[in-house]
Amino acid sequence: MLVITILFITWPWFFVCLGGKIIKSPKIDIFSLNSTNNDTTEIHTICRITSDELIADAQSIVTRVSTKILDERFDLFEKKLNEIKDLVLQMNLQSLSVNLNDRKDKFIVKKNYEYLKTPRQFEIRKFNDTVNEILISNEYFKVYTYFWIIENMKNKLSNWRTGYSQRSNTFYIKQAGYGMYMKITPKYFPDGTIFIAVGLTKSHQDNKLSWPFILKLRIEILDHSPEELLRIDRSSRLWDPLTVCPTYFWQQPAIIGHPDNLECVGLSIPRDILHTGSKYLWNNSLYIKLIVYL
Ligand SMILES: *[C@@H]1O[C@H](CO)[C@@H](O)[C@H](O)[C@H]1NC(C)=O
Ligand SMILES: *[C@@H]1O[C@H](CO)[C@@H](O)[C@H](O)[C@H]1NC(C)=O
Ligand SMILES: *[C@@H]1O[C@H](CO)[C@@H](O)[C@H](O)[C@H]1NC(C)=O
Ligand SMILES: *[C@@H]1O[C@H](CO)[C@@H](O)[C@H](O)[C@H]1NC(C)=O
Repeated sequence: MLVITILFITWPWFFVCLGGKIIKSPKIDIFSLNSTNNDTTEIHTICRITSDELIADAQSIVTRVSTKILDERFDLFEKKLNEIKDLVLQMNLQSLSVNLNDRKDKFIVKKNYEYLKTPRQFEIRKFNDTVNEILISNEYFKVYTYFWIIENMKNKLSNWRTGYSQRSNTFYIKQAGYGMYMKITPKYFPDGTIFIAVGLTKSHQDNKLSWPFILKLRIEILDHSPEELLRIDRSSRLWDPLTVCPTYFWQQPAIIGHPDNLECVGLSIPRDILHTGSKYLWNNSLYIKLIVYL
């Protein structure tokens, strides 16, 4: 059996590694080929540039190239294989190139997403659960940022009945102390509108905090387009607790009993923006960003 892949993913890595980035990169790790049995050969990440910025950069290129290439025919793949061999030789990685040669026509086919991090990964790693300053029309705002990844969206969108929801873990707004959660309802109305809400929940610091909660907040759905300039995150408006909902929703959460206040604000999105191949889905997951203005 002839099985193809992962190499599809890996050859652009070489391209990236050799495409001038080496010079800027502090360190490049090469991992070797791994043979699983006689018929299949699995290649793990072959080229990893150990600098956060460059990893993100490299991966976005991989994504773009690999999704395109996956649709192309095997003979093209074989051509790429030879290119890789040349690149490998240029890099003086003798043992790897020999292995590639030996196993030339034995590769596993696997869809790539499971292995690739979103082009937004750098941002997520850097800002998740942190306080930062952001610049909006010449003014700096101190904000807390939290990212929530909702997996297995296809199943939730097609099978979950109206009103059925999933809650995020509780998280605590750094420097402010409030406990919060988010909640997605894949089918909020029978027409299929998706709703992503945010609400307050109990925090061990509640007694020391001031009530009602008055911090402004917004939710964004991340766009995973490789090109940064082409990304358009779907954003809610900036909610001001003082004006959007009755104070009831922003009071101190119950000390005993159910810890969550009812949620009052949320972002609704039409179902069809999450079609197959949508730039708002990555690895069948939806990535939500919450920004709280401190
Ligand atoms: C190859 O796979 C085996 C078993 O999965 C693992 O123990 C080994 O470390 C792998 N070798 C490399 C070079 O990745
Ligand atoms: C691999 O091939 C050898 C010799 O052809 C055979 O003895 C062995 O059972 C094969 N191993 C697997 C995992 O198929
Ligand atoms: C893709 O999703 C699966 C399950 O939803 C998860 O286990 C895996 O880590 C994800 N891969 C990446 C690269 O995020
Ligand atoms: C964000 O940080 C929290 C707290 O450290 C963690 O539990 C959560 O998994 C992180 N989210 C992502 C998307 O990494």
